[in-house]
Amino acid sequence: MPYQQDCSVLSLRALNEKAYELILEAPDIVAAAQPGQFVHVSCGEGHLLRRPISICEASGMQLRLVFEVRGEGTEWLSRRTKGERVSVLGPLGHGFDVAGKRVLFIGGGIGVPPLLWAAKRAGSADAALGFAAENRAILMVDFAKVCGEAALATDDGSLGRKGTALDAARELLEKNEYDLICACGPEVLLKYAAQAAEEAGIPCQVSMEERMGCGVGACLVCAVKLRDAHGEIYMGHVCKNGPVFSAEEVVFDA
Ligand SMILES: Cc1cc2nc3c(=O)[nH]c(=O)nc-3n(C[C@H](O)[C@H](O)[C@H](O)COP(=O)(O)OP(=O)(O)OC[C@H]3O[C@@H](n4cnc5c(N)ncnc54)[C@H](O)[C@@H]3O)c2cc1C
Ligand code: FES
Repeated sequence: MPYQQDCSVLSLRALNEKAYELILEAPDIVAAAQPGQFVHVSCGEGHLLRRPISICEASGMQLRLVFEVRGEGTEWLSRRTKGERVSVLGPLGHGFDVAGKRVLFIGGGIGVPPLLWAAKRAGSADAALGFAAENRAILMVDFAKVCGEAALATDDGSLGRKGTALDAARELLEKNEYDLICACGPEVLLKYAAQAAEEAGIPCQVSMEERMGCGVGACLVCAVKLRDAHGEIYMGHVCKNGPVFSAEEVVFDA
């Protein structure tokens, strides 16, 4: 059950030239949250629609969000200061199911944050993380602390191997055994993560990103094609049925 809270900003800091870490005081949301869920953040009076942001971590009273500035809403969010209040609705959606499992986490760009808390909750975790370049990388120290192995890749080769998160993941899949792959990032990454899981004979959970309106299943903005257990296609909602889906359920467009 989601809560709507006016949350006090505890801290806001830049992680790189585009990404920010926002820590909010949100005890009710934190108490109910699971890894992989998201919150819907009100980004100032000029913006009617809330912005969906994944929960990076939730502990005690503190909700940790990591976001990149993309447009007006996230730009407004990046200018908050300590003590200001931000209206947050959440936790929303369904998260990752990782308890007791050996999980390979595959994250691309701003898809990386929701994997961190899931990695902490997994039986054991390795991660393959991909970024455009070294100056866009985030949360590497956090993943290094939580994961047995954290393999990095960048498009330009400025950090880790040259390539994508999937190239880094293949390396780990060749030498280690996993029960599950969890992936978050661009849809094409999710599609290939699902293929890699199929080749390895293990299940895959993917976190989907779609434009959102209400965030609670009432407006249809986030509709996506899904496949049921009999192979029949139907329309579902990323906000209510996801954002985390079993990869078998998803009809990838990419
Ligand atoms: C489930 C989910 C989790 C997400 N988690 C994160 C996260 O942890 N960190 C992060 O940086 N970003 C995340 N995003 C993307 C983030 O919601 C968008 O970058 C943000 O809404 C852009 O808003 P804006 O006002 O800055 O940009 P604008 O382009 O000005 O936004 C205009 C409208 O389009 C919507 N919109 C634009 N881009 C997206 C997008 N990619 N996804 C959904 N709606 C969009 C906005 O919500 C707004 O209603 C997530 C998206 C989803 C669906
Ligand atoms: S955002 Fe309204 S139904 Fe999903």
